[in-house]
Amino acid sequence: MPPTDAETAAAIAAHHTEMRAELNRRIANLVATVRDGAPHREAARGVLTYLEDDLLPHAMAEEATLYPAGSVGATALLVRAMSAEHEGLVARVAAFRAEQDPLGLAAGAVAIGALFESHLAKENDLLIPALVANPDVVLAELLAGMHELIG
Ligand SMILES: [Fe+2]
Ligand SMILES: [Fe+2]
Repeated sequence: MPPTDAETAAAIAAHHTEMRAELNRRIANLVATVRDGAPHREAARGVLTYLEDDLLPHAMAEEATLYPAGSVGATALLVRAMSAEHEGLVARVAAFRAEQDPLGLAAGAVAIGALFESHLAKENDLLIPALVANPDVVLAELLAGMHELIG
């Protein structure tokens, strides 16, 4: 039996929780390294690798599936704002990639973590419930096999 929309919504939320934990772990590691004045390159690479290999592909997968589904009707403005947040994340990741200064890296990572956290809350608490409630959207079909979104 294919998953229900409620099951798909739960899988999305669980994947978000995992992502936030892993990103926060890597950010905390970078901040601690910089605070200690220890060599920070590896910790910075740990953050950047996660951003480039997981977070940005996740955002792109949403832009290809969830966001088009939510871009009409009651969720249209919300999706526009969330799309702009994705652009903000892309820009901050580019700035992080170019940053050399340890304090700049730590500050950049913390800012990305905070932006991601408030973005996730909109997805989990506003967009996904609205899509589940929308009879024109079948979440489970939309996201079938999308490992970037449902883990
Ligand atoms: Fe997103
Ligand atoms: Fe997301």
